[in-house]
Amino acid sequence: MQIGSSATSGSRDAGLWARAFAVLYDPFLWAGEKAGVGALRQGLLTRASGTTVELGSGTGLNLRFYSETLDELILTEPEAAMRRRLARRLRREQRSSRVLDASGECLPFEDESVDTVISTFVLCTVDAPDVALQEIKRVLRPGGKLLFLEHVRSGSPRLAHWQDRLAGPWQRFAEGCRCNRATGELVRSSGLEIEEMHEAGWRAMPPIVRPLLSGVATKAAGASDA
Ligand SMILES: C[S@@+](CC[C@H](N)C(=O)[O-])C[C@H]1O[C@@H](n2cnc3c(N)ncnc32)[C@H](O)[C@@H]1O
Repeated sequence: MQIGSSATSGSRDAGLWARAFAVLYDPFLWAGEKAGVGALRQGLLTRASGTTVELGSGTGLNLRFYSETLDELILTEPEAAMRRRLARRLRREQRSSRVLDASGECLPFEDESVDTVISTFVLCTVDAPDVALQEIKRVLRPGGKLLFLEHVRSGSPRLAHWQDRLAGPWQRFAEGCRCNRATGELVRSSGLEIEEMHEAGWRAMPPIVRPLLSGVATKAAGASDA
């Protein structure tokens, strides 16, 4: 394992709640992982290949699902408290990976140098998801894939109304997460080609984060990065 820091990082020093959130993250998600999200992660992540970059790796809940045969696995995470837990999990699971202090809006990779980008429960949290999606498109090689699993704005007006009402408190509780973000629409309008998009439900979690989308979006050959 190498822990790196990048000049282009969105590095953040953890405040008290950020540190507490990093400690509570795995226990808070535990029931939801068991109730189906673990299986969704597994189904998605076994499709990663080549040079693979994960955005906002958090505590590393995806680690156990990556194949050992990837050319390289690079984990990015801008929050120091999360990065510490990620480093601990890498040591525990004896996985080899580079960890970079970088945000999704400013990825420290060359154009068209990455085969797979992973985003699980991250596009809800980045401040500028449209910018992050353009960065993903820039770094992907033609034919490269974004594999995503995100909670999204509900298609039900009633639940969407509650997502809007509770967006502020939830954002404060969940370290910047926007429970009412229409991430599926953002991926659709990014210029990446949607190969697959599936709806699911995040059981054992609060209703405002229950609607999920998982899928694969590809950078078409000859696609402009602009
Ligand atoms: C809800 S957690 C998801 C963690 C992990 N991907 C997972 O599936 O469990 C959101 C993560 O995104 C990170 N994050 C926040 N802002 C980010 C940004 N601008 N770019 C990339 N990651 C960001 C947070 O620090 C946090 O680790």
